[in-house]
Amino acid sequence: METIILNHPLIDHKLTIMRNKETGTKEFRQNLDEIAMLMAYEVTKSLPLQNIEIETPICSMTGKKLVRPIVLVPILRAGLGLVDGFKTMIPTAKVGHIGMSRNEETLQPEEYYAKFPSCLKEADVIVLDPMLATGGSACAAITNIKKRGAKNIKFACLVAAPEGIQVIETEHSDVDLIVGALDEKLNDKGYIVPGLGDAGDRLFGTD
Ligand code: PRP
Ligand code: URA
Repeated sequence: METIILNHPLIDHKLTIMRNKETGTKEFRQNLDEIAMLMAYEVTKSLPLQNIEIETPICSMTGKKLVRPIVLVPILRAGLGLVDGFKTMIPTAKVGHIGMSRNEETLQPEEYYAKFPSCLKEADVIVLDPMLATGGSACAAITNIKKRGAKNIKFACLVAAPEGIQVIETEHSDVDLIVGALDEKLNDKGYIVPGLGDAGDRLFGTD
């Protein structure tokens, strides 16, 4: 499918605030929420529509309607920071959750929770996580969602390393990848450079 790097001025402006280590929890959350709304617009651009006949107060016309239900799947924890913004733009979306924790030593993802709405199989599924680093967590989450029958999957992340993009393109070549900003590389601890640090910790004020 396709990989889109958004490079949108509003996203870049807000992301720079998030990247700044002086930015506190409140501002970090608020900017992520605003970015989520902008990303929702871009991520949904190619969703399929079907024709429906309606009556306006003036005349009959052929209007448009989304073909499939939409399911958002945040990868816990940090993906939760994108949910409200997406729900603001898509209030009918259902939400599944998948818990993934990256082992700090091995950098391998460990799944600890999964719950999905029953319409997953026929839905347009948008997986959400602000960070795509090694790609391990996203890859495992997408594999789980596919095992449950999902066919139309997009992965939306705010900051990606080239390594993570390569992994998704190789392992899940049928998944559209929408990236807010492409960063330079991973450091030896698996953190994105320049990145924004640990997204979950900054979002929830843990350390
Ligand atoms: C972070 C982030 C991604 C993952 C990315 O989550 O939100 O899920 O790391 O790294 P990867 O591409 O190398 O797998 P983390 O495991 O730190 O959990 P958290 O969201 O609970 O902090
Ligand atoms: N997870 C994060 O939260 N940040 C990174 O830079 C890499 C993985």
